[in-house]
Amino acid sequence: ASIDKYVTPLAVPPVMPPVSPAGGVVDRYTIGVRQFRQQILPPGSPPTTVWGYGSVLHPETFGSPGPTLEAGFGRPVEVTWVNELTDSNGDALPHLLPVDPTLHWANPAGGVAGRDSRPSFIATPDRYRGPVPIVTHLHGGRNAEHSDGFPEAWYLPAARNVPAGYATEGSKYADYAETFASGYGVSWRPGAAVFRYENDQRAATMWYHDHTLGITRLNVYAGLTGFYLLRGGTEDLPAGVLPGPAPALGDPSGTKHYEIPIVIQDRSFAADGSLLYPAGRAAFDHFAGPYIPGSDVPPIWNPEFYGTTMMANGRTWPVLTVEPRRFRLRFLNGCNSRFLKLKIVANPRGKRPVAAALPFWQIGGDGGFLPVPVELGTLLLAPAERADVIVDFTGSREGTQLYLINEAPDGAFNGSSAAAPADPAITGQVMKFLVGPLAGPDTTVPPGRLTLPAVPPIGAATRTRKLALLEHMSAAIPGGGSSAVLLGTADGTGRAQMWSDPVTENPEVGATETWEFHNFTGDAHPIHVHEVEFRVVGRQPFGGAPRPAERWEAGPKDTVIAYPREITRIVAVFDRPGLFVWHCHILEHEDNEMMRPYRVGP
Ligand code: C2O
Ligand code: CU
Repeated sequence: ASIDKYVTPLAVPPVMPPVSPAGGVVDRYTIGVRQFRQQILPPGSPPTTVWGYGSVLHPETFGSPGPTLEAGFGRPVEVTWVNELTDSNGDALPHLLPVDPTLHWANPAGGVAGRDSRPSFIATPDRYRGPVPIVTHLHGGRNAEHSDGFPEAWYLPAARNVPAGYATEGSKYADYAETFASGYGVSWRPGAAVFRYENDQRAATMWYHDHTLGITRLNVYAGLTGFYLLRGGTEDLPAGVLPGPAPALGDPSGTKHYEIPIVIQDRSFAADGSLLYPAGRAAFDHFAGPYIPGSDVPPIWNPEFYGTTMMANGRTWPVLTVEPRRFRLRFLNGCNSRFLKLKIVANPRGKRPVAAALPFWQIGGDGGFLPVPVELGTLLLAPAERADVIVDFTGSREGTQLYLINEAPDGAFNGSSAAAPADPAITGQVMKFLVGPLAGPDTTVPPGRLTLPAVPPIGAATRTRKLALLEHMSAAIPGGGSSAVLLGTADGTGRAQMWSDPVTENPEVGATETWEFHNFTGDAHPIHVHEVEFRVVGRQPFGGAPRPAERWEAGPKDTVIAYPREITRIVAVFDRPGLFVWHCHILEHEDNEMMRPYRVGP
């Protein structure tokens, strides 16, 4: 049955309430990860069992996406991230979705030194049963290594049926996390980790999400995402210039706000409302073909995931009542694999491409403001990219309906405008804006007249690293086929490296480096580098002339689209020592070896 659109109001995630009293020097939070049911589908459809974040002191804040962390420049945030994936008896919950145990993944059973029998809750012959490892990463944050959410620094719930000591022994990086944590005066224990975020960077739209090795796609698909908005400092704008943010929890209800973070994600659902994610080689998988027992083609993992519905802030096809005035919308592509080409149009089912009815004025990207506002009819967002935009509904008549549509393909993205866009009746639609009455005058600055904070320049690089995006060809696939996408070096032919191979990218502390991503695959990949905010230098087709970065890439970035058969160049200052990662943000790729550790300093 088809799912009705535009019946559920857009949910605005609440502000995460801190546990520390106001006035201290650090904002403290205790944030749980829980399983609960949420009405994602329209009323009348069954609710969906999901995982989400929330303040453990305020059970009503649990949701997917989680509550928004509001952080202030110069004010560190300390979060105790608690794995509460337990049932009402206190036993560890199983994973909601099918784990592929043949990938290099967290594997709590495998990492236990000196134990040869798995506790019975770990696995049945056909399926991993839990406990579920988690570790949270603040995407876009520049923090010490112990607080970055290293994929192997995962931990289990402190559950009744998880033997004492098991949770820490499970991860060989638990020691790592604990050691580094204690060195910095923050604590780490089974079932919870305390991470510290410095907030000494440019005001930006960040987000937090799970990052556990080999199951990030599943943990995020189950619901583990939320926004983290850093405000203030000299690289933000004074209050009143831009449409204003949501009131903090406890503020008088009904307070108007005109700044809304919106995460867009595609999902599929079973008839009973449960999340659907392939438990084996999916029909759409033309990439690696069916599972061949005994081969290097994984039996459960699929190279990408494309859902059959579009969700904004955890509801399918919601509607937002706006006023005829300016709104600041902070978009995040939170899809596992799907690229988005967003547009605001009058007729959502029109023949693609449809003419834009209103432009987006993009004022910021991943790492804060652009140097100048950029007027765009179409907003291209790869998974993990953010766009801070002003949409000006001024002059729209009450009752006007406008639609946010998606013109990127229902499948892999390669940058070609010839690719068929998403189904205009289904995944080609995202949400609706319904113009209501004006509640009060709009005193914000029109986007075309905004003066934005300058983007600090990055000096000349002292070193260039040639890195490669490579298909792994499987001998088991008849006629030749790829079974994974890998990262490696691009010296000559390109040499692939696995997650477990030694670190090859090792900048000195404070070094400025150019990283080149040579994409030898057939598709575009969003490449994310932790710990740094880079600048996009530009791109160059193999054997062709270089071209500069796009206008909307002019600010600090942490994720960049690397197109096929091109070199994409970024430059960054690697100023914080430690062990971090760089990876493709197509979560299915990241989970199957398209991720590498890298180290800054000795
Ligand atoms: Cu958004 Cu390494 O992740
Ligand atoms: Cu990829």
